[in-house]
Amino acid sequence: MKQRVIAVLNQKGGVGKTTTAYNLAFAIASMRKRVLAIDLDPQSHMAVSLGLMQNNLSGIDDVILDGAEVTSYIINQREYLDLLPAGFRLSEVEKLSIKSRQQAIIIRDALAAIKGRYDYIILDCPPMSGLLNFNALFASDEVIVPVSSDYLALHGLSQLMKTLKSTQRFMQKPMKTWIALTRFGTRRRLSREVLARVMHYFPKQVLATPIRECAPVAESPSFGLSVLEYDAQCNGAKDYRSLADDIINCRTFKA
Ligand SMILES: Nc1ncnc2c1ncn2[C@@H]1O[C@H](COP(=O)(O)OP(=O)(O)O)[C@@H](O)[C@H]1O
Ligand SMILES: [Mg+2]
Repeated sequence: MKQRVIAVLNQKGGVGKTTTAYNLAFAIASMRKRVLAIDLDPQSHMAVSLGLMQNNLSGIDDVILDGAEVTSYIINQREYLDLLPAGFRLSEVEKLSIKSRQQAIIIRDALAAIKGRYDYIILDCPPMSGLLNFNALFASDEVIVPVSSDYLALHGLSQLMKTLKSTQRFMQKPMKTWIALTRFGTRRRLSREVLARVMHYFPKQVLATPIRECAPVAESPSFGLSVLEYDAQCNGAKDYRSLADDIINCRTFKA
């Protein structure tokens, strides 16, 4: 099976990047695919959400700043699920501006050392850093853009989709771009409108399962659990299992 590297990316904060990255990573791992989750956000919310509380850890920060090997920082979290933490120096990296192509391919090159070891590598991206997001894009074959369906922000989304297209030309490699609807309210008019609009503009890229707004999804991180472990029967757990299927089978929304 070919390894798939997927960045969960959106420059907007609070759209469900971290929530999607770690629940999707867990859901795919529970389907017995080997998954590595990489926490690229200096706030380390993905690690915390999976129950990793130490704040003096090193991880991808050492890889970027010192050229360290990724293998020594990978921590097993669950069956089939490993984590590469952000590391406490990643906030230093976040502040660096990007000056050369070389700085943008550090993570891509570092991942070559573990090629074939995982079926899926999922990166949780920070909202702002150019250097970290470029590194994520260079390392990835695919991007998931979470779009919060409680907020009509199609302007920012079109801009981001354009940027992702031009970045592909710059990187000289194709990259599949998916949209995942998050915080969806089945009965909420605004949510249905967001769905209709993203379908209109990006008809082939919207993943089949909108993730419904669901209290256990918001509660589970403080217990260090994925929503699938915290409340296996809730809508959020069902939706993230279904989203994992969408990703595995490249299944998009049909109007
Ligand atoms: N489906 C959902 N139901 C309820 N709350 C959600 C859902 N998805 C995300 N949230 C909440 O929204 C907030 C922002 O999500 P987060 O994943 O941290 O966004 P980002 O990583 O893009 O900044 C968090 O408090 C999270 O718990
Ligand atoms: Mg986040």
